[in-house]
Amino acid sequence: MPINHQILLDNRPTGEASTSNFKLVKNELPELKANQVLVRHDFLSLDPYMRGRMNDSKSYAVPQALGQVMGGGTVGQVLDSRSDKFHPGDKVVGMGGWQEYSIVDATQVGALRKVDTTHVALSHYLGAVGMPGVTAWYGLVKIIDPKAGQTLLVSAATGAVGSAFAALSKARGCRTVGIAGGPEKCAYAVNELGFDACVDYKLYQDAASLSAAIKLACPDGVDGYYENVGSMVLNAVMPCLNAFASIALCGMIAGYDGKPVPMSNPSLMLLSRLKIQGFIVSEHMDIWPEALAELGQLVATGKLKPRETVAMGLASAPEAFLGLLKGKNFGKQLVKLG
Ligand SMILES: NC(=O)c1ccc[n+]([C@@H]2O[C@H](COP(=O)([O-])OP(=O)(O)OC[C@H]3O[C@@H](n4cnc5c(N)ncnc54)[C@H](OP(=O)(O)O)[C@@H]3O)[C@@H](O)[C@H]2O)c1
Repeated sequence: MPINHQILLDNRPTGEASTSNFKLVKNELPELKANQVLVRHDFLSLDPYMRGRMNDSKSYAVPQALGQVMGGGTVGQVLDSRSDKFHPGDKVVGMGGWQEYSIVDATQVGALRKVDTTHVALSHYLGAVGMPGVTAWYGLVKIIDPKAGQTLLVSAATGAVGSAFAALSKARGCRTVGIAGGPEKCAYAVNELGFDACVDYKLYQDAASLSAAIKLACPDGVDGYYENVGSMVLNAVMPCLNAFASIALCGMIAGYDGKPVPMSNPSLMLLSRLKIQGFIVSEHMDIWPEALAELGQLVATGKLKPRETVAMGLASAPEAFLGLLKGKNFGKQLVKLG
């Protein structure tokens, strides 16, 4: 059996996460038992939620256990199988974690899913046609529930979730505005992702000046805001919301390394009769088939062209993950393993 390199959570961060929180180890894989499948991972997904799991604090999910392989989404290929449900060569998506191979119990419902790579590249099943894409779909369709002609705004606009949001929002006839960090990301948002406008939040020192820029980009106000960031960005968006606006509260990445993300003027929630709802996409498995069907169609027809930042080799995962938390990624952050 092959040697498997793995990255474990070695210790928990205090404040900012660092590469010293992780440990690279290697182990020989055991022989397969009945119903087990050996998968070689081609790509590992790096996602902001992993930062929350590194802490041992109140959360919607159990913390990542110390000394265990970091959890994470993977796509790859079946190498060997002692299950009649999977065969060598099958392309599969699963939660293989930060390691080169995984052994999966094929009797566990949903642990491994075969995917078709005829029209959609394997890696996109970790991004636009995977969890981040479905996340965009849920917040847009089930929380914001937009009408054609409305103005929708999304932060972290060029990331995995934000870019899928743009394609889904444009498909519903909405004016779609992004907020992203830096001129390159904003130009890409408009020229490649189909945003009608994009505001570079890094140009502004405070919420009031950012708010003025958002108002210029959204002359009819904001009917639906898809929140990925929190902090100054949220405080800048609040005064731009129209009456009866909605916020799909998806993430607050500005606070994941422990910085506070205060809301400066909560009374604006009342003034705009705001609906604000947080959600966790894995708690809504019933909508995944419908969302994946639409996202797969958008990618297969070229209406959504997902961009990826790919780090090479398992050992590069910790550094790439820390970069994701600082906006160094451009589009979906992956690690190439196979
Ligand atoms: N609720 C759920 O079920 C669920 C599921 C998946 C993801 N999420 C959330 O969705 C959000 C986007 O996830 P993603 O996978 O698509 O990541 P991503 O957007 O591909 O990457 C993260 C981006 O966040 C921005 N960012 C990082 N630190 C920031 C800061 N301090 N202030 C402002 N922006 C910052 C950066 O973009 P800029 O360079 O443009 O700033 C960075 O590229 C995250 O908040 C994540 O936790 C939630």
